[in-house]
Amino acid sequence: MAKTIGLLTGGGDCPGLNPAIRGAVMRAMDHGYMCVGFLEGWRGLVEGKTRPLSLQDVEDIAKQGGTILKSSRTNPFKREGAVEKCLANLKAHKIDALIAMGGEDTLGVATKLHAEHKVPVVGVPKTMDNDLSSTDFTFGFDTATATAVDAAERLKDTGKSHSRIMVLEVMGRHAGWVALYTGVASAADWILVPEEKPNIEKMCAHLKVAHARKGVGLVIASEGAELPSFDASKEAKDEFGHMLLKDRGVAEELAKLIEKNTGIETRAATIGHIQRGGSPSLFDRMLGMRVGVAAADLVAKGDFGKMVALKGTQIVPVPLKEATGTLKIVTKEWLDFANVFSK
Ligand code: F6P
Repeated sequence: MAKTIGLLTGGGDCPGLNPAIRGAVMRAMDHGYMCVGFLEGWRGLVEGKTRPLSLQDVEDIAKQGGTILKSSRTNPFKREGAVEKCLANLKAHKIDALIAMGGEDTLGVATKLHAEHKVPVVGVPKTMDNDLSSTDFTFGFDTATATAVDAAERLKDTGKSHSRIMVLEVMGRHAGWVALYTGVASAADWILVPEEKPNIEKMCAHLKVAHARKGVGLVIASEGAELPSFDASKEAKDEFGHMLLKDRGVAEELAKLIEKNTGIETRAATIGHIQRGGSPSLFDRMLGMRVGVAAADLVAKGDFGKMVALKGTQIVPVPLKEATGTLKIVTKEWLDFANVFSK
């Protein structure tokens, strides 16, 4: 009887997940495996919710945004009896290996299931935040950030017509990669990332100079930026202990501060989940399919407890626990690079 691989996608979805599923399922066929999808991330494994993953299901999904396996932020280690249910469902569905696609949270669960319960798991890195350690890039980041660059340039057009300063808030959680790339690529005047304490006075002085020269100003702010009025200890958290950043209103707060300090009319926009949708870019499609194929290869070799990572131009296996230990955040070198363009 053919062996079976279970696949799941957890955490915030992003463009590139469907190509990754396609890569894993089509390569698994080469190795003589069948595939079954667990729906809605770890919730599907806890509740035994599955869907078939045949050739017909995946052959034409490289261009589709989202994930055909659906997603959730369920953490089985935070729910009574849920880990036992995961183990029972792996048995009930005769799963020989599990491929978990996700970011730090989803892969953190995979790491624990492997270390504490010997579940034969391989991880596939995904996140639009690009904050996963041990891999140079994750799919989702390229598409999501290109969408933010497009939004920033649109804001600049309208800002210029009205001689305003425009503030765009982007996602990225506690890492500033999305904000930094968006800001540099869209020629923004100021970028706020969570890694750096904001200097409101310096920013406003700079915006006044830039606005006087160009007749417009553009600020890109990460949703995780720490503005003076925010109190991190009071913010609501999800099952993984992450702050829910959606209600902070970074852009609005910042726009008020800027208008007050510069006397220049300022408007705010938040791109939010628009960033997470859409057809994956060429880069994200190719990276998704490459890591998907590599994950199925690791399963065939029986090399479990690993994540497939992009290192330079190569896809290589790295221990899951190395990838999920610490977040990859923006370094001083990258901040210095961004500062070159802040004139
Ligand atoms: O981790 C991806 C991400 O898009 C973050 O940038 C953002 O903070 C979060 O997910 C939003 O999560 P949700 O879709 O649960 O609101």
